[in-house]
Amino acid sequence: MPNAVVVGTQWGDEGKGKIVDLLTESFDVVVRYQGGNNAGHTVIIDGKKTVLHLIPSGILRSDKMCVIGNGVVIDPDALWGEIQGLGGVSLRDRLLVSNRAHLIMPYHKAIESAEETSRGAAKIGTTNRGIGPCYEDKIGRRGIRVGDLLQPSLFLSSLQSNLKIKNRILADLYGEDPLDEASIYSHYVELGKQLAPFIQDTVEYLSKACEDGKNILLEGAQGTLLDIDHGTYPFVTSSNASAGGACSGTGLGPASIHGVIGITKAYTTRVGSGPFPTELVDGIADHIRERGAEYGATTGRPRRCGWFDAVVGRYARLVNGLTTLVVTKLDCLDQLEEIKICTGYRDEGNLLKYFPTDMGILNKVEPVFETHPGWMEDTSSITCHGDLPEKAKAYLDRIATLVGTDISIISIGPDRQSTIVLEESPRLRDLIG
Ligand code: IMP
Repeated sequence: MPNAVVVGTQWGDEGKGKIVDLLTESFDVVVRYQGGNNAGHTVIIDGKKTVLHLIPSGILRSDKMCVIGNGVVIDPDALWGEIQGLGGVSLRDRLLVSNRAHLIMPYHKAIESAEETSRGAAKIGTTNRGIGPCYEDKIGRRGIRVGDLLQPSLFLSSLQSNLKIKNRILADLYGEDPLDEASIYSHYVELGKQLAPFIQDTVEYLSKACEDGKNILLEGAQGTLLDIDHGTYPFVTSSNASAGGACSGTGLGPASIHGVIGITKAYTTRVGSGPFPTELVDGIADHIRERGAEYGATTGRPRRCGWFDAVVGRYARLVNGLTTLVVTKLDCLDQLEEIKICTGYRDEGNLLKYFPTDMGILNKVEPVFETHPGWMEDTSSITCHGDLPEKAKAYLDRIATLVGTDISIISIGPDRQSTIVLEESPRLRDLIG
């Protein structure tokens, strides 16, 4: 049975939550593979809105298994809150949390907040959820893992050795109050007891699921341009948000993955600092932000908005090996008389052949735009591709050509129903039947 990765092709917030929820119908198991509660996936079903930060969006379909993989970093308070918040949805035996996933500790959040403040104007604009410092400890081999919560004496000794250093960093470097060992210990051990029924070796579970012929959807958070290796470093998150992260973050080998579904908005947004060549700073940005409700699902911050960037799209195709593309929020462009697409970047007059790795260059490139006539029609209740305005079809065709992959799903509203699936797309059919 085919397994597929869903990946954001821009700077996150592409609408992956809705698409994962939709695709889940065709899969047995949904797995989150990286990031933490810096993500916010919004799903609207029959007008009811659910925002998920850690638990895969698949949880909203009662017959699906959901797994939080080893590549995710978990704030146990946030996870327990989310489990409780899903009150109406039965989670018994449907949610598994990897014992290898790393724990976000209170000192991760405290250090991140102090570090961001100390950066001043050069701050990254993180979500302040402790994501970066937690991954630093994972790579530095001093992290504490979810499974450690179930062994209180091991947990205590790791906490003690970490706190000795973290409290010195907080006090000596940043002038902050040290954190209290006893209260962290008792709180985390208590959370460990609540979460214990969900914790297990998910690598074993997933390989057995494959053997049993179950098909698996691997859900990425954030987006390719926020990937720690392939994104706009250092203005990135601290994990591999691109498709490659799906293997290391779950324990599934590359040969078990049969396709990569890239999600892109019909325009571009970005939250936090960092280069954004097609950014708009005029009334059109405000129009798109209001139409698209472009405010962070996690932090509520207004998102920066800009035109669709095909240089980013092409780069995302290469980095992820995209099989097919899903375009979301097309309806948010319905009222624009003209719509632009960035087809290339110029640096000091020269057309660049590749997406620049140097942020100094990316910051100063001039986007090359082509202008498309807007369709000026409401697309939000259209149910098949043939009924889309011709100008909207031409706009989508141009995106597909420039990115270099077919488009198989178009989203024209936040609800599950507001979706056009191009039944004739062979690439999507290969993945979801
Ligand atoms: P962090 O992931 O909190 O460390 O933040 C690093 C950068 O990634 C910041 O620019 C954040 O705004 C951005 N970021 C993190 N998670 C998301 C997301 O889910 N959507 C969009 N941007 C995100």
